[in-house]
Amino acid sequence: MKKLLELLSEEMGKAFEAAGYNAALGRVTRSNRPDLCEYQCNGAMAGAKQYGKPPIAIAAEVAERLQGSSVFCRAQAVAPGFLNLDLSAQYLAQVASEMRREPKFGLEPPEKTKKIIIDYGGANVAKPLHVGHIRSAVIGESIKRIDRYMGHEVIGDVHLGDWGLQMGLVITGVQERQPDLVYFDEAYQGEYPAEAPFTISELEEIYPAASAKSKEDPEYKARAMEATFKLQNGVRGYRALWKHILNVSVADLKKNYGSLNVEFDLWKGESDVHDRIPGMVAYLKENGYAYLSDGALVVDVKEETDAKEIPPCMILKSDGASLYNTTDLATIMERMEVYHPDEIAYVVDKRQELYFEQVFRCARRTKLVEPDTELKFLGFGTMNGADGKPFKTRDGGVMRLENLIQETKEEMYRKIREGRQMSEEEALAVAGQVAVSALKYGDLSNQASKDYVFDIDRFTSFEGDTGPYILYTIVRIKSILNKYVEQGGRLEGLSLQAAEDAGQGGTSAEKALEMELVQFNAMLPAAAEEAAPHKVCAYLYDLANAFNHFYHETKILGEEDSARRESLVALLILTRDVLETCIDLLGFSAPEKM
Ligand code: ARG
Repeated sequence: MKKLLELLSEEMGKAFEAAGYNAALGRVTRSNRPDLCEYQCNGAMAGAKQYGKPPIAIAAEVAERLQGSSVFCRAQAVAPGFLNLDLSAQYLAQVASEMRREPKFGLEPPEKTKKIIIDYGGANVAKPLHVGHIRSAVIGESIKRIDRYMGHEVIGDVHLGDWGLQMGLVITGVQERQPDLVYFDEAYQGEYPAEAPFTISELEEIYPAASAKSKEDPEYKARAMEATFKLQNGVRGYRALWKHILNVSVADLKKNYGSLNVEFDLWKGESDVHDRIPGMVAYLKENGYAYLSDGALVVDVKEETDAKEIPPCMILKSDGASLYNTTDLATIMERMEVYHPDEIAYVVDKRQELYFEQVFRCARRTKLVEPDTELKFLGFGTMNGADGKPFKTRDGGVMRLENLIQETKEEMYRKIREGRQMSEEEALAVAGQVAVSALKYGDLSNQASKDYVFDIDRFTSFEGDTGPYILYTIVRIKSILNKYVEQGGRLEGLSLQAAEDAGQGGTSAEKALEMELVQFNAMLPAAAEEAAPHKVCAYLYDLANAFNHFYHETKILGEEDSARRESLVALLILTRDVLETCIDLLGFSAPEKM
């Protein structure tokens, strides 16, 4: 189904043509003076020079042609040459009805459906998830859902950090606590125990302790590096212990991501490409891409047009150890081989931008990636506290995701209990669901690349541009619909009929709501194209506002005329469906009551 602005521009183009002007002048946009008109066209201004006529004369001729139009109930030429337009309510209702009938509310499939890999989440094994990872998970999940809804084939990969020095640190930490474990006995030949020698909470203590110690104690750090080396080179006991670390940690990650409705198709990690590295290194050397510089193997990635120096991409350190770069390049190689994606998008902290620039350039230059596969860096900003500095706990520590979710739930629970009659059990369940909307919407409603302030009080408010406000609106619609059914109404087979044309500058609340609704199939492609969930949020907020205004202005169940009442109910159903679809694209859902 065509976008509304396209339909309107076509109609306007015909009028320009009929008056003897170029149809391309008939581009219609939403009015920037909603107090004067709903839509506008500035084509007469643009055509004035070309046709050597005053713009107002052209506008008047075009307006003339639009008298009696079934699309515009008003087309008025105003000085110095604008066309002020109002939509016919009949026509708008027709478009909204078509939107109800069409799959995906009339969203057109993209010209080319792409296979897209989204690399997001990026959690590090054995380290607790902290708020830095929340953004990657929340934004990546939403981009994945949006692209999928558009019709693309999308694969989400968590790309775990499971292979670097942090693994050596954890292993060293375990060894320090339990030196007699069989994993450290290099003479041991038998099977290793199936049970992990630690729990997730022990694991979470081990890493920070080991990391802190390695910073003070060079000997300890050397041991950790040695352990990393042994692990990467296949020492049996180390591999077996690492597997335990991975399993315990991934189970916990799945639980945490699950509580945020974040799901991955692939649980791959840096370790998965380890075996590809020697082949890749040989390829880079044989083709003359990589050379030795101070003992390290590097690939040049600078370009003549660079304003500042972009350092070479390091493939192997002088001791032969691989780096973050190495696994990322090998991962690109694997993804190309296994999936042949049209696009790989990385949802990562924007502080890693230069790093990804190096990796992308290196992959291109060395032809690890097909020329028509796009590599995209979707960098996000920092989540700050009220003080404008990176978000911390009250005592200044790193806030863990689990605790953040817990705190938001508690705040939500408090607010829900305040004003509502609900059993404790129900209030708890609802608070959990609404808290997810508060967190996610609070994040997603900001342009991803910007920093934002985490403000629990604002995010959990039922008023304003917040997740709970959107959910509240949905719940309000649901409860009206339930009441309608209780009163014997049926939700099937309803048709949407025209609201009244309210005349100049007086768009009725019902028309205004329909005007928001029919934007859906224009809004979503833009959000997908720009990887911009905040556009879905902005749309949701406008739509929820338009609905609530309509709700206050309109008698719905009290409407006496039954055809009219049914039409209002049909409009409610459409609004609910669009709102629910949009929140699903953001990765949360609405309760029945709240
Ligand atoms: N584990 C990394 C971190 O915590 C993020 C991984 C991002 N993805 C990637 N392909 N490098 O910083």
